[in-house]
Amino acid sequence: MIYLNQAPLNEGKNVTFKGWVTNTRSSKGIEFIILRDGTGFMQCVVDQAIAGEDNYENAKKLTQETAVELTGTIKKDDKQIGGYEMQVNNVTIISIAEEYPISNKPHGVEFLMDNRHLWIRAKRQWAILRIRNSIIYAIHNFFQSQGFMQADAPIFTGNACEGTTTLFSTEFYEQPAYLSQSGQLYGEAMAMSLSKIYTFGPTFRAEKSKTRRHLSEFWMIEPEMAFFDNNDNMLLIENFLKAVIKEVLEKCKPEFEIIERDTKILENLVNVEFPKITYDEAVKILKGEKTLNGKTTIETLEEDLAELNKNITELNIELVEKEKLINDPNTKKGQKNFIQNKIDNLKNDIKELEERAGHIPEYLNSAKNFIYGNDFGGSDETVLTRMFDTPIMIYNWPHEVKAFYMKRDNENPHLAKGVDVLAPEGYGEIVGGGERETDKNKIIEKIIEHKLPMQAFEWYLDLRRFGTVTHSGFGLGLERLVAWICKLKHIRETIPFPRMYGRLFP
Ligand code: 4AD
Ligand code: MG
Repeated sequence: MIYLNQAPLNEGKNVTFKGWVTNTRSSKGIEFIILRDGTGFMQCVVDQAIAGEDNYENAKKLTQETAVELTGTIKKDDKQIGGYEMQVNNVTIISIAEEYPISNKPHGVEFLMDNRHLWIRAKRQWAILRIRNSIIYAIHNFFQSQGFMQADAPIFTGNACEGTTTLFSTEFYEQPAYLSQSGQLYGEAMAMSLSKIYTFGPTFRAEKSKTRRHLSEFWMIEPEMAFFDNNDNMLLIENFLKAVIKEVLEKCKPEFEIIERDTKILENLVNVEFPKITYDEAVKILKGEKTLNGKTTIETLEEDLAELNKNITELNIELVEKEKLINDPNTKKGQKNFIQNKIDNLKNDIKELEERAGHIPEYLNSAKNFIYGNDFGGSDETVLTRMFDTPIMIYNWPHEVKAFYMKRDNENPHLAKGVDVLAPEGYGEIVGGGERETDKNKIIEKIIEHKLPMQAFEWYLDLRRFGTVTHSGFGLGLERLVAWICKLKHIRETIPFPRMYGRLFP
């Protein structure tokens, strides 16, 4: 047995594949089977005249998702999916599938999510999961090649890391405990042993909101580096993101084609410097008090709105024409299906554009009225990133909006040395990090201010008692990165089995 992705080395040979039937088509005396085996897809042709009666009869029994073993000769054929085709001479059924709930017709997203255990077999979902795998591999590759040690933080924790409002409580042998919100505090301890470390583990946030960016369980990569200040940290983040994107672009060309991701913006950004903007500047840009390339955010968004409205009008004109055509008694029956398809697509496109246009006035309003000192909301991030084709790094934050461990700037005590990375194309925050406070007394003050239980942080304070040094780190949300790299509308498709508000099954 070989796998479908080994076809190029087996051209002209008689080989066997084991896999599942994703689609079948019949014509006179010939069955066309699209086989998938986890590594790829291939059209396999069962010709009655070549394969014989028994094999042809077997082929006719194949339902969608039936498991089969097919033996035959591999031919190169650029017109076919994957570039090869099999002329089958043996069909062995492994197990016949019952009527499969997911067909080629469009399904609602809730239905697909209820059938997530099956949906992951679909070509698009398969491609996304393969890209996710390549991203994970590239992340390890980068850190391991830079001398970082992977060091794992616990999942059961006795203390909060990122504020108490998003904690999942649990029980640990009759003792209250939480699921980890971040491995960072343990990462800091491990960096004092190993110098440059990264954790890569599941992370839990009880976010009772349904957004396209939030999961309740996600995977976070958290490097922590002894003797790095926030400038070193920012440089590392930039190099890291570029290296990961570059490797994934090289490895996943076929997958990007399947999901129809135009990768130009990703290809370009690996060669340019990411803008580094202070929080103060970002607020000015957001509120339209500062121009970029001669335009403010407000002007840019107003232009976007006008453009969207123009597109909507044009599509509506086309829709009216197509509806006239389909109702015209002179239109041939055979054409009607084709026109109906067009109409459905047009309606979808119009709905999507209307949704986007509908948001812009809200975005504009909240941008204009943004109050200095607040954290940026999702819509503010969308407005800010609209002005750039690369990720942007926002640093020097008001300390009130950041976590208790964040290093205060000695020259500007109202600022903390944090950094957030916002991804372009409307994706927003993918990385949060910064320099850590080294002064024990300042941390104690913050623990009191944040009303956190001092006892639970005694071990953390030890890190400041015994050889405290400047150190920094960051956290990257894996699924946020996958969503952006694949340009997905929602984070739910970035992980095999998403856990989010309202979804615990399958
Ligand atoms: O900004 P956050 O909360 O930072 C931390 O947890 C720090 N302790 C990290 C560190 O410095 N070591 O989270 C970091 C990243 C976010 O930028 C985002 O990408 C992701 O984690 N993230 C989420 N991803 C999906 N769903 C959620 N609910 C997320 N919350 C955060
Ligand atoms: Mg954050």
